[in-house]
Amino acid sequence: MTTREVDKRVTAHRQTEGGGFIVRRPLPTAGMELIDPFLLIDEMGPADYAPGEAVGAPDHPHRGFETITYMIDGEFEHEDSAGHRGTIRSGDVQWMTAGGGIIHSEMPAERIRKNGGRIHGFQIWANLPAKLKMTRPRYQEVAAANIPEGKSADGRARVKVVAGEALGARAVIDTHTPIVFQDWQLEGGADVTIPLPSDHQALVYVFEGAALIGDRGEEIADGQLALLGAGDTLRLRAAEGKRARLLLLAGVPLREPVARYGPFGMNSEREIREALAARRSGRMGEITRTAQVESRE
Ligand code: FE2
Repeated sequence: MTTREVDKRVTAHRQTEGGGFIVRRPLPTAGMELIDPFLLIDEMGPADYAPGEAVGAPDHPHRGFETITYMIDGEFEHEDSAGHRGTIRSGDVQWMTAGGGIIHSEMPAERIRKNGGRIHGFQIWANLPAKLKMTRPRYQEVAAANIPEGKSADGRARVKVVAGEALGARAVIDTHTPIVFQDWQLEGGADVTIPLPSDHQALVYVFEGAALIGDRGEEIADGQLALLGAGDTLRLRAAEGKRARLLLLAGVPLREPVARYGPFGMNSEREIREALAARRSGRMGEITRTAQVESRE
């Protein structure tokens, strides 16, 4: 058994996205352009919006990868050109395979836009291999109550398993390629070691407190992302009197050329031009809105 140690670390930068919402972005960032198969990690907020202030990302396309939205706090409403529509609340996850192309909108819930409120969550883009880039769009939504949870024997480490497996909990989501997506909470003194397949590339992003990673116990603090080195186990700890909350992401690297432009992630510039042309000509579809939705806007 080899424990994975921290190979490289970066600190998330603040950025304004979409219609103007605030994100912390550890990937891509200077010195960390891509962590194959992950293209992007955005922490939305945490932001407390005043009435009329909360903004989201109105109708926009995606092609070539999967978007995973995980809410920590607040509510997002979404609609897409394949006819899916819903609200993601605290703890819920939406796993959307954009595949060959989809148009969607992602907006803070109407009550938050109107009355103000807190938004905190994640959006992660997981790349698709060339052979699946043009796959049919797919949509999986799992309510918080249905996300399996595991905990260590001493109860100091708890994990919500969105994808993968840990501490006896196994994800209910189906992924196109092997992906690990877990929300870990560590209380002071927590010390757990879990298996993590050696063919996965893995990272940890801490978004509360500070965690100690690996046998070396390198401290990764709030807003920092650590790319992990080779190994087949992961050790997570929190120092006595400290706590941490972090995302563990891992996947088998695709090792294919990456051409990205805005909301598209393809293998070549030619495919990016094709995606732009498909969007312009309406071949990615449009969101069909009901009268009720239109009157809201
Ligand atoms: Fe999007």
